[in-house]
Amino acid sequence: PYQAKINPSMLSSDFAYLGDEAKRMVGCGADCLHMDVMDGHFVPNITLGAPIIKCLRKHTDVFLDCHMMVSNPEQWVDDFAKAGASLYCFHIEATKDAPALIDKIHAAGMKAGVAVKPGTPVEVVFDLVPKVEQILIMTVEPGFGGQKFMEDMLPKVAILREKFPDLDIEVDGGLSAETIDKAAAAGANVIVAGTGVFHAPDPSEAIQILRDSVNR
Ligand code: DX5
Ligand code: ZN
Repeated sequence: PYQAKINPSMLSSDFAYLGDEAKRMVGCGADCLHMDVMDGHFVPNITLGAPIIKCLRKHTDVFLDCHMMVSNPEQWVDDFAKAGASLYCFHIEATKDAPALIDKIHAAGMKAGVAVKPGTPVEVVFDLVPKVEQILIMTVEPGFGGQKFMEDMLPKVAILREKFPDLDIEVDGGLSAETIDKAAAAGANVIVAGTGVFHAPDPSEAIQILRDSVNR
């Protein structure tokens, strides 16, 4: 019913060569690129915003999966749409009116996603599933790459998969050849990997291992 999508997290790339790094990942078999947007407020780190997406878009047509770790997600919808973002994934913890935000994202021409932090129960997104294209279950505390995979988040993935057999369920944080089999068995199909792809000896092989685990 669902298929693997492997989305390298560009947070682990060399930002000084973002266009080249993006093309390299597409050449290695990436389905989409995961763009980690942090505002220094929702999470204790600052990364990139719409101006960088706009620059990157000139170098690639690939689907840009934008993970908005920001406190006021309503504020950036139009800028990201204009910059060429493909999917705008906000955190459920950051908004008071998720249905209105989803409508705003769709009206701007992007796909919509909802992300759930480790401390947030998955049940809060059930009613939103029919309105969005993807749900993101965090498997680390958002803010930094290279953290340890939180296996205890997988029951959230399993509950979601049982209720929604065709949903695109994304997992993000600590995914690699060592952790993918458990995440795939729980039902995740959209796999974000930063360290697991960029620091692998062979990124193409790393992407293939992740894909094979989901499609098995
Ligand atoms: C963490 C980000 C992740 C991060 C994943 O806040 O949302 O996308 O880049 O990096 P790894 O795969 O190294 O855990
Ligand atoms: Zn992310």
